[in-house]
Amino acid sequence: MEGVAAILAERGGLLGRPLCVLATTTSTSDEARIAAKNGAPHGATWIAEQQTAGRGRRGRVWFSPPGEGLALSVLVRVSCPPARLPALALLSGLAVRDAVTAAAPGAAVRIKWPNDVVVGGRKLAGVLVEAATLGPRVEAAVVGIGINVHTRSFPSEFAERATSVALLSPERPPDRGSLVGDVLSSLDRDLHVVLSRGLGPVRARLEAADALRGRRVRSDSGDEGIAGGIDDEGRLLIQRDDGSIARWSSSEVHLQPAS
Ligand code: BTN
Repeated sequence: MEGVAAILAERGGLLGRPLCVLATTTSTSDEARIAAKNGAPHGATWIAEQQTAGRGRRGRVWFSPPGEGLALSVLVRVSCPPARLPALALLSGLAVRDAVTAAAPGAAVRIKWPNDVVVGGRKLAGVLVEAATLGPRVEAAVVGIGINVHTRSFPSEFAERATSVALLSPERPPDRGSLVGDVLSSLDRDLHVVLSRGLGPVRARLEAADALRGRRVRSDSGDEGIAGGIDDEGRLLIQRDDGSIARWSSSEVHLQPAS
């Protein structure tokens, strides 16, 4: 991983230290969860060149060819109600958006609620936040982030739906060390305020990044309407056709043709 330890030390934030870079593991989030039980500190971070059992939301497999992507997990020791974790996932998506925008200026990088980072409808990165402790409050959480960095050609099943930093910035090969440094410093800056107050303090950035706002969407359960933004707890606001407002706290979002 290109100079990432030096980049993180220079920036002086709390996330990314200590840093463990692995050639291979089942999942960087497994590493972080096990280490959390053994007392690893706030900010401890795992990066792997290859994951043999990388996972995404809803039990999906996260696939990233060795050396091409960025798979990292950060342990955050925070005390918050479990209902704050969706806000942490969205904040992490914003941090990825900032980092990718710095690497590929001009790319329209957006957040697709609840945990995707997309460009032109294609997925560039995903975030998986998991509580590392059980109880009425979360005392530690693992933020797992997967970014497609160097991949220029995706397997046919993903080809229509995926993109990478390299494809967004063909002239300027991405540097994974700088991406990690940018993601972690952005997350570090806003983490505590968002965990204590929700997404209000980053509202302007979130609105500017929202890929769904104004789009007609349908949930898994068949609820449907126009996406009207994201509330402070990270729920998607939906204006139904009958004028009522729904707040989705989790679902797959299916984009619908405008009616
Ligand atoms: C999603 O899109 O559903 C979330 C994908 C999250 C993938 C990352 S890669 C690093 C960390 N380790 C994992 O096993 N998953 C997350």
